[in-house]
Amino acid sequence: MNRLIITSNRLPVSIEKSEKSLTLTPSAGGLATGLKSYHKENDSVWIGWPGVTPTTKKEAGEITALLEQEQCLPVFLSEEQIVNYYDGFSNATLWPLFHYFGEFTEFNETYWESYYQVNLQFAEAIIANAKENDTVWVHDYQLLLVPNILREKRPDLRIGFFLHIPFPSYELIRILPWREEIIEGMLGADLLGFHTYDYARHFISSVKRLLGHDVEFNQIKLENRQVYIDVFPMGIDYNKFEKLALEVQSKPIQERSKEHQDIDRFLMGKPDRKIILSIDRLDYTKGIPERLKAFRHFLNKYPGYREQVSLIMLTVPSRTDVEQYQNLKNEVDILVGNINGEFGTLNWNPVIYFYRSMPFENLIELYSSADVALLTPLRDGMNLVAKEYIASKVNHKGALILSEMAGASRELGEAISVNPNNIPQTAEAIYKALTQSDKEREKAVLAMQKRIKRYDVHKWASEFMTALKSTIEKQLDHHAR
Ligand code: F6P
Repeated sequence: MNRLIITSNRLPVSIEKSEKSLTLTPSAGGLATGLKSYHKENDSVWIGWPGVTPTTKKEAGEITALLEQEQCLPVFLSEEQIVNYYDGFSNATLWPLFHYFGEFTEFNETYWESYYQVNLQFAEAIIANAKENDTVWVHDYQLLLVPNILREKRPDLRIGFFLHIPFPSYELIRILPWREEIIEGMLGADLLGFHTYDYARHFISSVKRLLGHDVEFNQIKLENRQVYIDVFPMGIDYNKFEKLALEVQSKPIQERSKEHQDIDRFLMGKPDRKIILSIDRLDYTKGIPERLKAFRHFLNKYPGYREQVSLIMLTVPSRTDVEQYQNLKNEVDILVGNINGEFGTLNWNPVIYFYRSMPFENLIELYSSADVALLTPLRDGMNLVAKEYIASKVNHKGALILSEMAGASRELGEAISVNPNNIPQTAEAIYKALTQSDKEREKAVLAMQKRIKRYDVHKWASEFMTALKSTIEKQLDHHAR
């Protein structure tokens, strides 16, 4: 039978090692949180890195056994590969370049060699587990070379690829010394999926200009086959968020978590008090300093809101060994300290800042309690947090401020849209979100809910799979002629 193998750098669950035991924890980030429910419900195998390096063969065996329970298979990375492939080429070369941070992009031959070796290692792990004609779905920028390695070694496989981050304009990609290898690597797939039309358009233009292939509408014509390009904006597990939000809402106050009770106390008896929420990995693409500056601007311009509104900012630690992430952490710590020092009172913290991950139930509580979600990435492939917030607003009382640089802004047109680099505009958007009428909010939330409910993560994955199937049929048909 035709099986599905999913592969991504990080598995949907990571292993945490303490002195005595190994435990499974959910991984952070849109890819893992979004695709995990699809994986659970389908008989797929997921191959990826479990986030730790085993020190003994016995430990490697224990990790493998733990992951098997989740239908996952590990690809172990050495310390050296983590430095050069993960922190290096993936997160200090491709990540900044694809998010238009040219000044952070490092070109380093050792990083590139390691990236190639690890992509080969992933492809070999897939090949060792793939039966004839199996379908392989490769995900994201860490594995751009895998499709072509698979194509060369196992032409029987059906290969789909999805990019979870932006594909940048040709003007950016052209500066990469390994630009041709990267694009050829991706073209090993039968079908390439992107979140938005713009990312797909940038990819096609790079293929034409760098490799000179003919393109007809969404087909790239190679010598002996075609590669299809299409747009699939990733969705969330809508029903799960809606169901949990309904449960949270109906829970008696004394049964709520400590965090939720604290929020309740802050709001209690003060109908004008409001909560603004932001949730991201601590990443320079997320526009966190700009967001804090906009909040400061707002408190200066509208002093009547002091003591009436707090920004709850959850930042999840990420890629902590990469220099830019460490610098950003310092910058955010200082900004939060400045704002709280300048405006805070004995009774009020303007910014309530968490630098850690939070259990899923707490996230739902935050989404439910927040009056406004303030999501202002400078660049973001999609931003599933925006969709999760909207799905959790079961009482329809919430406003969403969303950066126009997030892929999600294409589908969430009713949100209050901002250019995150425009600090006064973002401050005004905060004011607008807080002063909108219930009717306006409800109208916007309902319209967005309808859209993201229809195109949820299951629909996203099944549409990708259907398109991949029809691509294969067209290829077979073409060869038969
Ligand atoms: O969605 C983009 C993405 O880079 C995923 O590929 C990744 O798993 C997630 O963000 C979190 O990043 P990391 O795996 O580097 O912690």
